[in-house]
Amino acid sequence: KKSMPLFGKKVMVTAGPTYEAIDPVRFIGNHSSGKMGFAIADELASLGAEVTLIAGPTAQQSNQTLKRINVVSALDMLNACNALFNETDITVMCAAVADYKPKTVANQKIKKQDGDFNLELEKTTDILASLGKSKKPNQILVGFALETNDEENYAKGKLEKKNLDLVVLNSLNDAGAGFKSDTNKITIFNKALEKTVFELKSKTEVAKDICEAILKII
Ligand code: C5P
Repeated sequence: KKSMPLFGKKVMVTAGPTYEAIDPVRFIGNHSSGKMGFAIADELASLGAEVTLIAGPTAQQSNQTLKRINVVSALDMLNACNALFNETDITVMCAAVADYKPKTVANQKIKKQDGDFNLELEKTTDILASLGKSKKPNQILVGFALETNDEENYAKGKLEKKNLDLVVLNSLNDAGAGFKSDTNKITIFNKALEKTVFELKSKTEVAKDICEAILKII
């Protein structure tokens, strides 16, 4: 029988992209498949945790029985996270949340016109940073960093700025790592800025490594 080290723990995981509406038929999105977040949610559930998965638009399915809340935009995701965070022991923010959204959403489909078209964007709320601000000492907060350059320094900066317990770095420079693939190559930094480098592996195996790092700090 598998041990259940996270039995009784309430866990929240975000996964997938967000879509920011431009008009009723168009949006700004990204290539996140949700695979990494779903693998983490499944692994946490199999360790006995009570998992709520907050998922942006994705065709991904979870293997374990867990509570799933579907959201579309960064604002939806923020509201879903805020509603749960107080009661949550462990939070893993894996979603690729849009950093900008259209300032206004057109009520009707925008018609094609001559010449260029400018779309004005405004910042979305950084969900992870805002949770980090209200985090209590007994809560564990894990964030991701996907970088293309100077990745280790950015990852460590995020850990401190967003008040995280762990940051998981995946670099787009590593073959087989990142958005749509079934594999990932990660480096984990803890609060003491100790670094653990992992081999390229399946996202299921990567999820196990991340959960082990979480178990170590409990
Ligand atoms: O700063 P950056 O967007 O690279 O940080 C990535 C981390 O922050 C991820 O864990 C992601 O889920 C989270 N994030 C968030 N809300 C945002 C932007 C990023 O929760 N608006």
